[in-house]
Amino acid sequence: MALMKIYKYGEPILRRKMKPVDPAIIRKKLQPVIEDMFETMEAAHGVGLAANQVGLDMRLAVISIPSGDEGETIDAVLINPVIVEKTGEMNEEEGCLSFPGIFAKVKRFQKVKVHCFNEKGMPVEINAEGLFAKAIQHEMDHLDGICFTDKVSAISRLKIKPALSRLKAETERNMKR
Ligand code: NI
Repeated sequence: MALMKIYKYGEPILRRKMKPVDPAIIRKKLQPVIEDMFETMEAAHGVGLAANQVGLDMRLAVISIPSGDEGETIDAVLINPVIVEKTGEMNEEEGCLSFPGIFAKVKRFQKVKVHCFNEKGMPVEINAEGLFAKAIQHEMDHLDGICFTDKVSAISRLKIKPALSRLKAETERNMKR
């Protein structure tokens, strides 16, 4: 188990569409990666993490959200996820481990049904709503190179613009080192 580097806004991989995972390698090769992603997400106090946020070009994301019971979480591994049904609408605040300190409201579907492979390489269907649905949509956007800041209202974008510029400049300085 090891903590992975979390790529911040300004890193080109956050803007790329990730490649599908061959389901045959999930069981054999991806277990250590999935464990490290959970550990990295938890250490950073995040509720979701997409593979490109840790520099990996694959359609894989992990999610761990509070379940309502004290200290309990709902954990999910999404590999090659596809949304097959979506209903309702919500507009709630989001943040992202690649955008530390930046928060803004984003419109999402209230409920989604997703088909994907799980950590065992088995096809599964996930029915999610509320925070779980929000996290799934946020992470799936990452896999297409889309960040939550792309989807905020014009007013919110103006508000977060200075922080985004500072973060991008900092990332670019770090990339040159
Ligand atoms: Ni994110």
